[in-house]
Amino acid sequence: MSTARLTLDPHFQVGAINRRLFGSFVEHLGRCVYDGIYEPGHPTADAEGFREDVIDLVKELGVSAIRYPGGNFVSGFRWEDSVGPRAERPTRLDLAWHSTETNQIGLHEFSSWLEKVGSELMLAVNLGTRGVAEALDLLEYANLGNGTALAEQRIKNGKRDAFGIKMWCLGNEMDGPWQLGHRSADDYGKIASRTAKGMRQLDPSIELVVCGSSSAQMPTFGEWERVVLGHTYDDVDYISCHAYYEEKDGDLGSFLASGVNMDRFIESVVATADHVKAVNGSDKTINISFDEWNVWYIDRFEGVDKITGIDNWPVAPRLLEDAYTVADAVVFGSLLISLLKHADRVTSASLAQLVNVIAPIMTEPNGPAWRQSTFFPFALTSRLATGVTLEVKLEADSYDTAVYGTVPLVDAVATHDATSGATSVFLVNRSQTEDALITIDIAALGPVGIVDVQTLTDADVYAANTLDARDRVGLEVNASAALGTGVVTLTLPPVSWTALALRTE
Ligand code: AHR
Repeated sequence: MSTARLTLDPHFQVGAINRRLFGSFVEHLGRCVYDGIYEPGHPTADAEGFREDVIDLVKELGVSAIRYPGGNFVSGFRWEDSVGPRAERPTRLDLAWHSTETNQIGLHEFSSWLEKVGSELMLAVNLGTRGVAEALDLLEYANLGNGTALAEQRIKNGKRDAFGIKMWCLGNEMDGPWQLGHRSADDYGKIASRTAKGMRQLDPSIELVVCGSSSAQMPTFGEWERVVLGHTYDDVDYISCHAYYEEKDGDLGSFLASGVNMDRFIESVVATADHVKAVNGSDKTINISFDEWNVWYIDRFEGVDKITGIDNWPVAPRLLEDAYTVADAVVFGSLLISLLKHADRVTSASLAQLVNVIAPIMTEPNGPAWRQSTFFPFALTSRLATGVTLEVKLEADSYDTAVYGTVPLVDAVATHDATSGATSVFLVNRSQTEDALITIDIAALGPVGIVDVQTLTDADVYAANTLDARDRVGLEVNASAALGTGVVTLTLPPVSWTALALRTE
């Protein structure tokens, strides 16, 4: 058995937790929108064709802001195709995913769905095949009350009040050679700056996200951030980070340590942003929008799913439909821990994605919807992580990984809400063989009681929820937790994620 010790003290804080940390992402990709959130004819479909079983699960998941409509999709998207009378909307090729886009769901329909699930819209503009003018048109259409052709067009299309969209992404993954309209850091930085300046002239209240790197493994990583922020520092509020992790070549030990990579990624981007701040002599701080993160078996997409052929452009094909295992969910939980540990600088994040496409929620056409293993850590963290992140002192045994070197066997983060008296601790045990005995020093919290301890684990770390076994994996009460004088002890099984909820008595 390994051991780990943490000390919690509400006086030592990392920063306030922004609710936007629990955002997600809906892209026009595969069956995320069509046959996912929208399936007219499904037994649970509402009057607008949205599946109510999916709406209920999205609410249960506890998602704050939702990024839309892409992703790679947005870099070829003409927003005006997807508004106005549905019968008149053109059908287009989606080059990013080699699919056909029917445009039956657009800004109006998606906003209506967001109202049903209670989430905020985070909208991306196309800086791949388009530029400043089209971004300004979309902003005017969306956010101007009335009195211009575009605002009046929105009203004619059924939305009297402006959408009032606050968060805007300046394109998507423009550093990636796969991106339509891919640019160098210098070219992208210039167009992002011009677009941002124009958008702020129109609506100074908006918050803008400039594209950072598509991953920390990109050859341009670091330099991309420096150059792009060199052009845009005064114009934007956030720089984005994207990261996907997968188990490669049977190396579960390295995969379980993925959170270490996310920690380093965040800290490198913060350092780069602060370097530009120093060079500029600026008082302003740029924060991170970690607006794509997840486990994703990209190799499976490249090798199996990828669609090709000039006459083969399916509508809503099955793409990126990864079935998540317990091990995936443990890594996923550790990524949430990493985001929370950096709550002072990561003030927005989007789990990519939400339904069917690398998603916590799966659906079958005319059939059921179910929770994947990753649903559980997200829902519980979103519900319990309120207030501030505490500066946790963690001492843990370590192990060696092929990819990330020597890393702690246990990772943890704690949150504290002075208003409600709730303190939560989220932990992972990365060992594949040993329990971890955890001792948490809570003396500085005063008298507290244990409200709940839930653990995700399984004798088969590759067990998953599937159409035929929709409740195969889930959370279990961890009965090992015990309250002593000024301490809580608990045992974490191998390859597990745990949430401990405490409350001031
Ligand atoms: O989330 C799937 C894809 O991953 C997105 O479209 C793109 O931005 C990223 O490469």
